Amino acid sequence: MVPRFLYCVCQVGAEAALRREIGGIDPTLRSAFARPGLVTFKLEDGADVDVATAAIGARSVLARACGGSLGPASSAIEVTDLLRQATAAGARLRLQVWERDRWRPGEEPPGFVYGVEAAAARRSLVEAWPAGLGLADGELALAGELVADVIIVGPGEPWLVGLRRQRQGQLPYGGGRIPIAECPQAPSRAYYKLVEALVYADVPLRAGDVAVELGSAPGGASFALLRRGLEVHGVDPGAMDPLVLDYAGVGGNRFTHHASTMGNVSRDDLPEALHWIVADVNLAPQIALQTVRRLGARPRAALLGVLLTLKIDNWKAMRHLPGWLRQIEAMGMAEVRATQLSRNRMEVFACGFTPVGLARRAGSSPPSPRRRRTRRSSRARG
Ligand SMILES: C[S@@+](CC[C@H](N)C(=O)[O-])C[C@H]1O[C@@H](n2cnc3c(N)ncnc32)[C@H](O)[C@@H]1O
Repeated sequence: MVPRFLYCVCQVGAEAALRREIGGIDPTLRSAFARPGLVTFKLEDGADVDVATAAIGARSVLARACGGSLGPASSAIEVTDLLRQATAAGARLRLQVWERDRWRPGEEPPGFVYGVEAAAARRSLVEAWPAGLGLADGELALAGELVADVIIVGPGEPWLVGLRRQRQGQLPYGGGRIPIAECPQAPSRAYYKLVEALVYADVPLRAGDVAVELGSAPGGASFALLRRGLEVHGVDPGAMDPLVLDYAGVGGNRFTHHASTMGNVSRDDLPEALHWIVADVNLAPQIALQTVRRLGARPRAALLGVLLTLKIDNWKAMRHLPGWLRQIEAMGMAEVRATQLSRNRMEVFACGFTPVGLARRAGSSPPSPRRRRTRRSSRARG
């Protein structure tokens, strides 16, 4: 049995926007079963499920994860029966069990964490796994592997069983939810947003780099950068958490507060060598981007990349995203990407890397300008 449906997971409330986005990527897909944060689509007869999921994986900003959908299952036997019918004899599967989003990010009931229910379901599935169906050890998927997704849809509902091929460069976690260790002292939840962004984009930060953060108060993201050894300049008229203000890194890195609006900060107020521009300012993206462009313009030699949380008022604002990405590209970025991270609220994470930033990520020297190629994809790794 080849999957005739696809599943996509997104933020709760983004389902209609996701359908619009997917309609633009593959107009042949027909919307089918859906729940908050989970939308399925019927494939046209003859359409290739791997081609359709690869296109969504490469271009969708709102779909955090997608794959073939085999249908509902209420027990371990039903799950493995569906998988057996869908795979060749001798196939070895990577099992990933995860919950769809049930609340908007940050609105989860106190103490709730995703993954607890999934871990229990995974244990029961592994215990009941039949001898004739191959099962890889562990949950992290390797490129090329067949991944069996068991999606916990919600209380009293059957699971949804998915099957997909792990793509090269795709993050190895189930459901596009990047696991991040709890950091109880983090001054704000923006700490988790930034750490998630660093993993998503494989950002090659190094101790000793200099970053400016626009909209830095109270300091979650700055704290994450300081902990990685960066020298951080925060721009925000709001108060910074003392943990950030008093931070003294083992390598001597510190935080400098520019207690002013970003429009009042000039390039001369910042160090000459500026490696990263981070922004999480609650202003319209076109305004935030003006300052990012101004501060990133000159001197630019050291700039490695920009890491930007773009606030959107409503889902219709997503139509401006291609224009915002073009503006980021015009700042000298050789790779630009955007996604809605699992911890983003009404916002999208967009990042750009200069050729020097890309070379550092690849562990090589920067390409010569003549050989430079611009790659702009919305989502290459999620
Ligand atoms: C989402 S909060 C930032 C959270 C912060 N990044 C953290 O890690 O805790 C948005 C911030 O943007 C700041 N802000 C709004 N307008 C600004 C402006 N014109 N210049 C600088 N900061 C601004 C607000 O004061 C607020 O602290």
